[in-house]
Amino acid sequence: MVSLLENPLRIGLQQDRIPEPQILVIFGATGDLTQRKLVPALYQMKLERRLPPELTIVGVARRDWSTEFFREHMRQGVEEFGGGLRSDEIWEDFARGLFYCPGDIDNAESYQQLKAFLDELDGLRGTRGNRVFYLSVAPRFFGEATQQLGAVGMLEDPRKHRLIIEKPFGKDLTSAQILNQVVQQVCDESQIYRIDHYLGKETVQNLLVFRFANAIFEPLWNRQFVDHVQITVAETVGLEGRAGYYETSGALRDMVQNHIMQLFCLTAMEAPNSLDANSIRNEKVKVLQATHLADLERLDLSAVRGQYTEGWMKGQAVPGYRQEEGASLTSTTHTYAAIKLTIDNWRWKGVPFYLRTGKRMPKKVTEIAIQFKEVPFLMFQSAARQANPNVLALRIQPDEGISMRFDVKTPGTSLRTRTVDMDFRYDTAFGQPNTDAYSRLLVDAMLGDQTLFTRGDEVEASWRILTPLLNVWDVPAAPESIPFYEAGTWGPVEAELLLNRDNRRWRRL
Ligand code: BG6
Repeated sequence: MVSLLENPLRIGLQQDRIPEPQILVIFGATGDLTQRKLVPALYQMKLERRLPPELTIVGVARRDWSTEFFREHMRQGVEEFGGGLRSDEIWEDFARGLFYCPGDIDNAESYQQLKAFLDELDGLRGTRGNRVFYLSVAPRFFGEATQQLGAVGMLEDPRKHRLIIEKPFGKDLTSAQILNQVVQQVCDESQIYRIDHYLGKETVQNLLVFRFANAIFEPLWNRQFVDHVQITVAETVGLEGRAGYYETSGALRDMVQNHIMQLFCLTAMEAPNSLDANSIRNEKVKVLQATHLADLERLDLSAVRGQYTEGWMKGQAVPGYRQEEGASLTSTTHTYAAIKLTIDNWRWKGVPFYLRTGKRMPKKVTEIAIQFKEVPFLMFQSAARQANPNVLALRIQPDEGISMRFDVKTPGTSLRTRTVDMDFRYDTAFGQPNTDAYSRLLVDAMLGDQTLFTRGDEVEASWRILTPLLNVWDVPAAPESIPFYEAGTWGPVEAELLLNRDNRRWRRL
């Protein structure tokens, strides 16, 4: 039998090829993402010899920087955020491929100039007309930039031209549909790479391997054995100076619609027919289409939001959300969201999926916990005086690993039980740091592998689930109407009730 993982026809989820010579054009290159993430990630790939020697990176932004300044700024980024240069020689070689081209994202002339510049670089660097355009700009420019690139013919060849679009892709179902129409008028879907950096994380990719390369879990992965699933993405950070973006976003748009829904899909989807991009994405769309908020008539029974107030994190006093720089003093933006989802299909009918995320939580942790049903009859005396259901916890970050919780007999003459964890840890097993998510995704986009990117119908299906809630939460509310939680705690008390009503509780992490 040929397994999905051995099938030589597979193209997704693997990365042993070197991309063709090409130019990566980053719009919004003076922003933090380029200096902190994108360029350090690319440089790491350079050190690992995963990039073609001709790779050329062109930063585009409004500021009047020179190429020399851009190179220096990126060098600082690699030193500060990317673990250092490690080799001056390799850095010099990498930096020779860095260029800066000032331009206005909404000015047609800038695109003409960019086109001429890229054509010139083709001659200089041997990049053969291959281009990847990365839109790391404010979302309101996604449509415009795509149209402008299309208008000057820079996206006309599906085999040579690709477009990476940062999140958020739309702000609800309608805007995502409109944006899809705009970009799909210019590009073929095969050219569009909607990026979600969670898909680049090793442990997220491992979800498919764990589920479909092992025979013992799949038979249990359904309504017969699973009581419910909890997905937690807790962050310790607060607003981090991003009020301009976050005030109109909130946790549902910032984390749930994209990152957490991806974790949800990979946990709940059926096995794909193969590992190619479309087989995997078809299965994700299928499960999203079967999913809805648990009670659409009573959304208050399906979802809880909250906003952090001042509190303590690791012994340090931290301000509340409204006191953060740039946030309104009467803001009702939610920094915490918990939702209960139902999947109407044969595998999952009746198994709730509880998803939660929040800023200023006590601990940074991303985890998927599959909680199994209780034994039908407990004949042992447990230390906790109650049944302790088995839990399979997939730790996405930090402390990456997988643990299985079960009961054992405690040593001694009496028959008592205790709950223990069997633990697999990535660091002890492999002892090597994970590849950065952006490295993986950037190289995949250059290779033309869309497996780890979100397809147009997938992004719409995910917005469709959350839009009824957004419609309610977007209505301007009285400043005191939003539930609060103290920074450094696990969210508002209402979030506990969401599970308590179902006789369940959130995992203590
Ligand atoms: C980003 C969000 O997409 O993901 C941030 O905009 C969030 O608000 C970040 O902090 C979390 O990413 P990670 O990889 O640190 O879990």
